[in-house]
Parts: sequence; structure tokens; C-alpha cells
Amino acid sequence: MSDITMNPLDDASADPFAIAAEAAADIARLSGVERHDIALTLGSGWGRAAELLGETIATIPATDITGFTRPALDGHVGTVRSIRARDGRHVLVIGARTHYYEGYGVRRVVHSVRTAAATGASIMVLTNGAGGIKPTWQPGQPVLISDHINLTADSPLEGANFVDLTDLYSPRLREIARSVDSSLDEGVYCQFRGPHYESPAEVQMARIIGGHIVGMSTALEAIAAREAGMEILGFSLITNLAAGIQKTPLSHEEVIEAGRQAEPVISDLLARVIEAL
Ligand code: HPA
Repeated sequence: MSDITMNPLDDASADPFAIAAEAAADIARLSGVERHDIALTLGSGWGRAAELLGETIATIPATDITGFTRPALDGHVGTVRSIRARDGRHVLVIGARTHYYEGYGVRRVVHSVRTAAATGASIMVLTNGAGGIKPTWQPGQPVLISDHINLTADSPLEGANFVDLTDLYSPRLREIARSVDSSLDEGVYCQFRGPHYESPAEVQMARIIGGHIVGMSTALEAIAAREAGMEILGFSLITNLAAGIQKTPLSHEEVIEAGRQAEPVISDLLARVIEAL
């Protein structure tokens, strides 16, 4: 689907942080919640976590928030929700991810993360559905992201802004996640541009350069979250073994179906991890 609506982020002279501040003000106005503590982006398969977290205070269509882009895909929920967790913390649940492959540029990709930071959130939880490279992994398995390799050749940072990415995926938060589920394995996430899946040779390249997970999101968002000073936790649902590792061709339907099947279990896990953060 193409988005023909004007987006203020497309004006190169506009300040993306000012637009994120406007978006945060929209969320405060539409939800009645002044500040959020934690933000969570829901990728394929993770959609049900929100309901388990607590009481939904507001569900806002993403297109009512300044700078947000209408989602390109069925199966991706185009809303931002404000949830009050059982312990009283406010969780901003972003179900409206803009992918790099949609071609709207990296400012739009990271706008939700910058907006989350502008709402006050100090922790950014990024989730996705992805292909697995480690031979011990099975479709339906959630894994932690320990680091990333950004293969988009792009960055959300503009100008001479030399942000450090050491320990980008917080060891502290990963430890907390493992205290909830000690069986959680972890791996290095490679963000490809997409929207085509990787070729088997590209999957082998990813493996050789140190990757374990292949996908089309998250790394650019994590960089923007670090720039904004947030602590980051990343989860991938392994929806399939990566191209050439699994012997059958990949399909979007397979990815969605794996997400559907894993959803109850991983959503419960995610809700318990967020409670523990
Ligand atoms: N590659 C890239 N993105 C994906 C995959 C994959 O194998 N599975 C789900 N999203």
C-alpha cells in the first residue's frame, strides 16, 4: 500500500526531534497519560503481549499521531496503545512499525522510537519475527538479541554524531529476561534491507561475519534509541530457519503462521519480562 498522505518528516529541513515531541504531545492528549515509563514495539508474533500487561488506557490509530506512517502490511497492527501495568507503570505499546524496506527513509523508520523517548520512556523493548541461523534453533522459539550488524548501509543519525554502540542491547536487561526464562538463548541480529528474503549465500555471509538472526527491522531503531539515551532490550521470534538453512522455500504466510502459533507463549514471556524490568 502506498501512503499518499504528507508526512512532516519528509521535509528535509524539519527537525525530527521536534516532530517526535509533537507526536508525544499527541499521545499525551489522546491517552490522558502525561508520561510513559517503558516502550514496546511489537513485531510479528508478539501482538498479544499488550493485553497481558495490564489495563489498556487508550488505543490510538497510528495515523492520528504526528509523523506516523500507515502500516504497509496486513498482520501488522496500526495502533499505539497506552497500558497501565499492574505495578502502575505506563507502557507505550507501538504496534505500528515502519520498515526500512517501505522506502520512506530512515527518519520515518525511527520516528516511533524517538516519540517513545519523548513520552519519557527510558526503556525500549524491540521485538521482531526473524530467520534463525543457529542449527539448534526451531521455528517458534524466542531468542534475545545480544548485538547487531546493520547491513542497511544507513543510519538514523544525521551529521557528525558519533554515538557509541557498545552494549547496545543492555546486558542488565538481558539478565533480567533470563531470570524470567533461563532457557532463552541469544544471538547477533543482522538487519537486511529487504523486502526480499536473503539469498542462501547472504545467509552464509551473515553467519560467517558473526550473525545468528536475519531480519528487516530493529537495528536502525536500536541506534536511534541509544542516541535518545534509552536502555534497549531486543527479542526475535525465530519464525523460520533462514534461507538455505531450512530446505523448503520461505514464505510470508509461513512467517505469519509461525508467529500465530507461538504468540500465546511468547506474549506471556514478554509480559513477564516487562513486569520484571
Ligand atoms: N529473513 C528476513 N526477515 C524475516 C525472516 C527471514 O528469514 N523471517 C521473518 N522475517
